[in-house]
Amino acid sequence: MRVVIQDNYDKMCQWAANYIADKICKHNEEESSRPFILGLPTGSSPIGVYKELIKKNKAGELSFANVVTFNMDEYLGLPHEHDQSYWYFMHDNFFNHLVDMKPENINILNGMTDDPEAECAAYEEKIESYGGIDLFMGGIGVDGHLAFNEPFTSLTSRTGLRDLTTDTRIVNSRFFDNDPNKVPAQALSVGIGTVTDSKEVLVLISGHNKARALAATVEGNVSHKWTCSALQMHNGAIIACDEEACGELTVDTYKYFLDIEKKERL
Ligand code: GLP
Repeated sequence: MRVVIQDNYDKMCQWAANYIADKICKHNEEESSRPFILGLPTGSSPIGVYKELIKKNKAGELSFANVVTFNMDEYLGLPHEHDQSYWYFMHDNFFNHLVDMKPENINILNGMTDDPEAECAAYEEKIESYGGIDLFMGGIGVDGHLAFNEPFTSLTSRTGLRDLTTDTRIVNSRFFDNDPNKVPAQALSVGIGTVTDSKEVLVLISGHNKARALAATVEGNVSHKWTCSALQMHNGAIIACDEEACGELTVDTYKYFLDIEKKERL
């Protein structure tokens, strides 16, 4: 696992955006006959990354014409036009601002489906039809959930219906008039296995409130209690984090990753 510690949220986002942009550009130079398959998250963590990617796209430095995206998750029962649906979030914060993203290349689980099982199976099949995901960017919850894979979800899980914990509904209630009961109780989500099947996984972890989750991801045991810890078993996992999130790491771990990434910080 690679852990890239940046001074603050903005720098973390710049680093992650540069990393993703480089991957897409290299892919387009080397094998443009095949699209680049990019997994994407919602939440406040990726917003700065989306802003940077939009800037590059508008400046003509990065094209999304050959990119196919798959989003991590969607609330069950929220229509596209609901301003808290992840469909709305993604269009509002990212897709609507890109000059060459093809709408037919955007994949987001349909939270209004009346057959969640079929919806999720079709999503997995579609990912597979492209030969899998090249790079999955993610964020994590304060309880370490990756996508909506709450504690004790199997680390080999695939895309499916998930129940949200009370904790997550409380945390996410900030977007629902601070009322946890207004937060949908269920969601559709890619599985931990779906994410870890990706060639690379890049997870953003920022702020004091994620410090325990970062420590569990990097230093804890691999355990379904912290589903993010599955990343330790992935051969291409990168954590991009900020100083604020490092509060629960041991000094040794912190120094190790700063030392090994020194050239990145020059
Ligand atoms: C939600 C999403 C997750 C996201 C998490 C963290 O619960 N389902 O995919 O990673 O929130 O969000 P934030 O980045 O706002 O802390």
